[in-house]
Amino acid sequence: MQSVRVTEEMWHHLLSLREGMVRPRVLSPDADVSCLPLYGPIARRNGPFVMAQVGQSLDGRVATPMGDAQDVSGCDGIAHLHRCRALVDAVVIGVGTVVADDPSLSVRAVPGRSPVRVVVDCNGRMPHRAKMLNDDGTPVVVIQADDVPRRNARHELISLPRQADGGLASRDILAALAERDLTAILVEGGANTISRFIDAQLIDRLHVSVSPIIIGSGPAGIRLAPIDRLSEARRPEVQIYNIGSDIVFDCNLRVDIRRVAASPDCEDVLMADTA
Ligand SMILES: NC(=O)c1ccc[n+]([C@@H]2O[C@H](COP(=O)([O-])OP(=O)(O)OC[C@H]3O[C@@H](n4cnc5c(N)ncnc54)[C@H](OP(=O)(O)O)[C@@H]3O)[C@@H](O)[C@H]2O)c1
Repeated sequence: MQSVRVTEEMWHHLLSLREGMVRPRVLSPDADVSCLPLYGPIARRNGPFVMAQVGQSLDGRVATPMGDAQDVSGCDGIAHLHRCRALVDAVVIGVGTVVADDPSLSVRAVPGRSPVRVVVDCNGRMPHRAKMLNDDGTPVVVIQADDVPRRNARHELISLPRQADGGLASRDILAALAERDLTAILVEGGANTISRFIDAQLIDRLHVSVSPIIIGSGPAGIRLAPIDRLSEARRPEVQIYNIGSDIVFDCNLRVDIRRVAASPDCEDVLMADTA
């Protein structure tokens, strides 16, 4: 596990990478670069990049059964989330999170620009009084199915075709955002929204930020279709970072370690492990 420190110098370097500066800020020879592996892939603009972030307890919960989700992450987990927001173009959440938490999705815990806020609201139930619609912050984009009546709104409304399963295709959502030059995307929750993107294999990196609390019961941050055997579980390549109050599991969903390790020797080991 690597310990990560984000100095002011490194943070400004990351922000300059995010801005796609031809010459990013030059680092001093003794710069503490421990945060580069974690944040560099988000900040660099080498094409479209989609990440998801879950802040959860030791027992994998993101809220109490009553829906209290306020302080699941510790202070460094919150700073981590805000750094991720500051490094992307847009943050995407489902309307369920707006209804449950009424978040503002702005960058407050670190210096940086707030991303465009995107709400997937297939059936048009976004509350008019949602904080983000009334805070004069960064633009809000609401994405609905094209058979839902358009309301007069102060935010941009995107209509996408409803799919046979009744929902919207995650690929269509990303394409609509890319048309608006929003190509570095953070899918922030909740479980329903993140899981649809994972199912569609559209997430490059998944950050699971674990805070040392035990909630005991309550919803999880990811909810995929059930599997029968652990051999069917996804096994992404993972780097683990100690960020202070919380631990971040940085999962590269583009790499399945079983495929990487599919040499004859490794297959023998895997078969022995699962016997
Ligand atoms: N700790 C964390 O990291 C974190 C982050 C965010 C949220 N949360 C928690 O997560 C909970 C909410 O999660 P949730 O899973 O219930 O709701 P959610 O994912 O926020 O929203 C789900 C709803 O969004 C719409 N939606 C999203 N993607 C869609 C798609 N591709 N096609 C069609 N509709 C789509 C649907 O609305 P309709 O039902 O209207 O069709 C769906 O029911 C809250 O308790 C919140 O506190 C935790």
